[in-house]
Amino acid sequence: MKTVECNTATTMPMEVARVQSVASITNCMDTIPSEYIRSKNEQPAATTLHGVVLQVPVIDISDIDANEEKIVKAIAKASKEWGIFQVINHGIPDEVIGNLQKVGKEFFEQVPQEEKELIAKNPGSQSIEGYGTSLQKEVEGKKGWVDHLFHKIWPPSSINYRCWPKNPPSYREANEEYAKSLRVIVDRMFKCLSLGLGLEAHEMMEAAGGEDIVYLLKINYYPPCPRPDLALGVVAHTDMSCITLLVPNEVQGLQVFKDSHWYDVNYIPNALIVHIGDQVEILSNGKYKSVYHRTTVNKDKTRMSWPVFLEPPSEHEVGPIPKLVNEANQPKFKTKKYKDYVYCKLNKLPQ
Ligand code: OGA
Ligand code: NI
Repeated sequence: MKTVECNTATTMPMEVARVQSVASITNCMDTIPSEYIRSKNEQPAATTLHGVVLQVPVIDISDIDANEEKIVKAIAKASKEWGIFQVINHGIPDEVIGNLQKVGKEFFEQVPQEEKELIAKNPGSQSIEGYGTSLQKEVEGKKGWVDHLFHKIWPPSSINYRCWPKNPPSYREANEEYAKSLRVIVDRMFKCLSLGLGLEAHEMMEAAGGEDIVYLLKINYYPPCPRPDLALGVVAHTDMSCITLLVPNEVQGLQVFKDSHWYDVNYIPNALIVHIGDQVEILSNGKYKSVYHRTTVNKDKTRMSWPVFLEPPSEHEVGPIPKLVNEANQPKFKTKKYKDYVYCKLNKLPQ
């Protein structure tokens, strides 16, 4: 039997300060509460490189059958050097992405706060799913300027609809359509990553959990922030997933770390941003890099993003793919169940 993870009671006290409400209070001020002020070495104003020419690779995947070799090469190169790239002409209809964004924005901006709290994560819950604020306990008790909603969108057997918004009413259909469209891209990305390492097309995805790979959607909601020079949205991290496929809105904010500098990831309408996560770094025995990234916030505009984390099933064991390990290439990572990896990462324990 499925356990009930999201709140169903109507008596949930609103103890957690949502960033959306902090933002509405600080709206007319030129300061923010101290728990949102990052230490000097993290503050975006002090650490972002401006006027640089380097850019996260943009890869056109139209006509993948005819151009497979070229696309595989580009994806493998980007995954080794950056751990992130943008994909254009991916075949997901603009309308499907537009609807996903529309219903997510409506949930955060038009649904009354009490109703949002009905699907809030229980503080004691093991599950990550639901509406919430700040996932990890951060060093020095600092907080990110962001609220979020997490729920699984694929495979159908993994979905817990209690954690999905009931409003707007078209929320469910828009998310189901997006999940369906993503499946094609997911297969293609895994296939290219496999071929890029000289493996057979199916091997990487199979090693990651195959048809049981879980698609975990997160919506990030970054309200306007009076001091974007001092705060961060999501603090610097690598994703635990295999791959993350992210749709942003038009407000600049994602930054990636490369060769000791932070770079802005330019917004390209309708592109999908592909992050290599920790599990693909492990499967590839370190050939592909899990990208270190963070987000900044904006003074006047709300930024939103919709990452989908492609995760192995929790009991699935992940380690370097045996074919990639030999005398000259010793395994660089342990083989362990995904749930054990997650536990160590969230509790900042050695892997
Ligand atoms: C995340 C993340 C980036 C973004 O939620 O893990 O890195 O652009 N988000 O919002
Ligand atoms: Ni991330």
